[in-house]
Amino acid sequence: MTEELSLLARAFEREPPGVALRWALERFGQDARIACSLSVEDTILVHEAARVGAELGVRPRVFLLDTGRLHDETLVFAERVRDRYDVELDVYAPQAPLVESLLKKQGFLGFRHSVAQRKDCCDARKVEPLRRALAGARAWITGLRREQSVTRSDVAVIEEDASNGGIVKVSPLAGFTEAQAWDFARRNGVLTHPLHAQGFRSIGCAPCTRAVAEGEDARAGRWWWEDPSHKECGLHGRGPR
Ligand code: ADX
Ligand code: SF4
Repeated sequence: MTEELSLLARAFEREPPGVALRWALERFGQDARIACSLSVEDTILVHEAARVGAELGVRPRVFLLDTGRLHDETLVFAERVRDRYDVELDVYAPQAPLVESLLKKQGFLGFRHSVAQRKDCCDARKVEPLRRALAGARAWITGLRREQSVTRSDVAVIEEDASNGGIVKVSPLAGFTEAQAWDFARRNGVLTHPLHAQGFRSIGCAPCTRAVAEGEDARAGRWWWEDPSHKECGLHGRGPR
């Protein structure tokens, strides 16, 4: 399968995102799950999946990991997305005992004190729920772009995901720049998160995401107190600990 996937990855590299999404929905139907943080990349995926899904007679399955620390704006916007697009939107929340033990160990702001504590928080609030969101899935679809960071520079449009049991990982926007994503969203009338208009160039948890200033790196607002080589939460590989 790996060889087939790399051939497809190369072929889809030059195609619009709907092409890779169509392939995933045709091949895996509802066993393909779209990971949606509600950033512009992810609403492009939802917009395109709803369009392609309607043509194929497949209602795409989308999931949001509600870490318990998302911005209120994200939750309100999630309901707008649910109203607008004909997709199944599932929400996964962290398990209460894990969060309680995390809070006992590191309080509400432990993630500011060390990379290890920050990753423990991401493990409980994102990585464990991701495992449940992907249970039974044969593929997952993400809004990753190579341009986003040094840790993402080799993302392929389609690849096997060794860290999630070898299922297929599809990232239709892998080769997009941020400007291309916005151009696509505007030309196609994609619903976009209101925080983007306030300088948030990526959407994450409220205490770990801030708006960025003109000239700053797009991901400068994520875990801004850490070195860029650490800036992965475990959803897409670990980075050093
Ligand atoms: S993160 O790992 O640093 O948090 P980022 O915000 O760049 O990731 O998002 C990369 C991709 O991971 C998104 O396009 C989306 O597919 C997935 N993702 C990130 N956060 C979530 C979330 N809260 N719920 C669902 N998917 C998410
Ligand atoms: Fe915790 Fe911040 Fe990771 Fe969210 S991004 S899970 S608040 S450390």
